[in-house]
Amino acid sequence: MKPTFYPGVLALLLAGCAQPQPGSLKDALKNKFYIGTALSVAQFTGADTLSERVARENFSAVAPENCMKSMYLQPREGEFFFDEADRFVAWGEANSMWITGHCLVWHSQAPQWLCVDENGNNVSSEVLAARLKSHITAVASRYRGRIKGWDVVNEAILDDGSWRRSKLYEILGEELIPLAFQYAHEADPNAELYYNDYSMALEAKRNAAVQLVKTLKERGLRIDAVGMQGHIGMDYPAVEEFEKSLLAFAEAGVKVMVTELDLTVLPSPQPDVGAAVEATFGYQKELNPYADGLPDSVATAWTSRMADFFRLFLKHRDKITRVTLWGVCDDDSWRNNWPVPGRTDYALLFDRSGNAKPVVNEIIGQASR
Ligand code: XIL
Repeated sequence: MKPTFYPGVLALLLAGCAQPQPGSLKDALKNKFYIGTALSVAQFTGADTLSERVARENFSAVAPENCMKSMYLQPREGEFFFDEADRFVAWGEANSMWITGHCLVWHSQAPQWLCVDENGNNVSSEVLAARLKSHITAVASRYRGRIKGWDVVNEAILDDGSWRRSKLYEILGEELIPLAFQYAHEADPNAELYYNDYSMALEAKRNAAVQLVKTLKERGLRIDAVGMQGHIGMDYPAVEEFEKSLLAFAEAGVKVMVTELDLTVLPSPQPDVGAAVEATFGYQKELNPYADGLPDSVATAWTSRMADFFRLFLKHRDKITRVTLWGVCDDDSWRNNWPVPGRTDYALLFDRSGNAKPVVNEIIGQASR
């Protein structure tokens, strides 16, 4: 028997289809700035399909959470491991993402051999410069034209505005940063180049980063943006201080990127921990108050603070080119394990089931006003 055709039913179905869908985050922010996420290996290799889907549907930019750090890319001198980084870039391209690279020079997650000789003594400045050049050239030229911008140097300034006394700095001194920017530009002349750091709302750090931008520009070196990591808490930093920094960077003639945004609800074991990955503290139950769920009052306060930051970003969308969350869903976040391992945090825009948190609709609403 032929199925009976009911025009009325068809009209109803069509009307249903025509209902406006709630927009996605990336659509809402399309003409404002890129909205990005960091991706772990599990996400871009298909092991974590939930976060992979959330990333694909909601974000327009990606950064590698770990796989492009120098200890993974060049574990032994001259031996490169590009498999994961290649897959990361391919995933970004397949999903039409703005792809940034993180990071070419960083004192942390760097291979043991980088700064020392076979006896464990510091190498000369010439040797270190040559090693950095060879690493940066190999990596940035491999992804030339595909990675749109690089965090060239990560975390070289301390909270008091002085240079971090890392081994890299001990050997190369202040030349470390200009050299890294020069090598990166030579390897990929069209790539954008960034200086990236945490606690950038602190006045001393803000001033030092502004000075760095000026120095690089005076020397004719390319720098396109300052990355403000944005590992923030419920009571630090003040939104106004964050705003002062982003205005200061824009005034110095570069764009601003919020590169590693996450908002922890957990108590900090120490007030000024910033985001120094080496700062870790022992687990204590009192430091993990929301292991069984987040009380509504705390969730509401979190939403309101995250919304305040996005209001600031949208207000300065002419200066900000990208806002990247450091992870997709809450259980992906490094904040569950840093600075105290084994805690339950709620730092990102999507919950542990991959659902958008209420703040996502707030951001979409803010972007449409
Ligand atoms: C973190 C990753 O999220 C962790 O998985 C890893 O164990 C340590 O590094 N600043 C940065 C990022 O620039 O690369 C760091 O990422 C977080 C702080």
